[in-house]
Amino acid sequence: MMTLRKFQTAAALLTVSLMGSAWAATTAPEPSTEEFVPTVGQSGKDVIWVPTPQSLVDKMLDMAGLTAEDKLVDLGSGDGRTVITAAKRGAMARGIEYNPDMVALSRSAARREGVSDRAVFEQADIFESDFSEATVVTLFLLPNLNLRLKPILLDMAPGTRVVSNSFTMGDWDPDETGEAEGCSSYCIAYKWVVPAKVEGSWKLPDGELQLTQKYQKVEGSLLRGSEKVAITDGRLEGANIRFKVGDDEYTAKVTGKQMQGKINGQGEWSASQVG
Ligand SMILES: C[S@@+](CC[C@H](N)C(=O)[O-])C[C@H]1O[C@@H](n2cnc3c(N)ncnc32)[C@H](O)[C@@H]1O
Repeated sequence: MMTLRKFQTAAALLTVSLMGSAWAATTAPEPSTEEFVPTVGQSGKDVIWVPTPQSLVDKMLDMAGLTAEDKLVDLGSGDGRTVITAAKRGAMARGIEYNPDMVALSRSAARREGVSDRAVFEQADIFESDFSEATVVTLFLLPNLNLRLKPILLDMAPGTRVVSNSFTMGDWDPDETGEAEGCSSYCIAYKWVVPAKVEGSWKLPDGELQLTQKYQKVEGSLLRGSEKVAITDGRLEGANIRFKVGDDEYTAKVTGKQMQGKINGQGEWSASQVG
């Protein structure tokens, strides 16, 4: 779509060439070096552009615990500020943005900031893109778009951190809520850690664990001999599960169909998923 600024530039160039074609023939018009100037509230494919305040960008990356080992993707990356900030912190960062003018703007900002080797931008629809490699996902979209993304996010590797400006994920409660200081609008962020999938039956050397799961919350029971005890305080943080059986606290790391860990920080225990 031609913007008003581009239209005005094109119209001015056309006027010059029509005013004196011989002169125009020897003096080729300079290509426009003017940069696209975005407008807050400009339309976007599924949501308008409103930038995340820089203080909240910083807060969101803090909440994600972003490190130089991470691969961040910003879904609907706007002017590229989250991607560029993540790259400045040493992470590999990728923006997916539908508006080509915003992509061009982001690329030149990344060049200016000296991070174009780590901050990449692609013009694409987030709903047509594969970002399964990311370890951190940031987004500032809309509640209904978050709900469309939720099953895709839940299928990412356990431990992937998802941080959203202002909008939640329906019945998937956030693991953390944060607020940026010195910020006047759109100042709240929510963080989720993609939980491992543990629902089902798990065989222990001396018993069986039955688990049900709603996102990061886990319920169920442990059968030992003929005694069946309900588990309490069951919770997942990525691949790490913890729950109580009576006074005993079980912690473990889930790797596919295996979990292995400690009871009260000492005795080892393990289980294999059987159903
Ligand atoms: C509210 S802005 C957030 C921009 C940026 N993430 C930030 O936090 O500053 C949403 C962005 O998503 C883009 N967008 C809307 N629908 C999209 C889609 N289906 N695929 C990719 N980008 C999209 C818009 O153009 C806009 O730049």
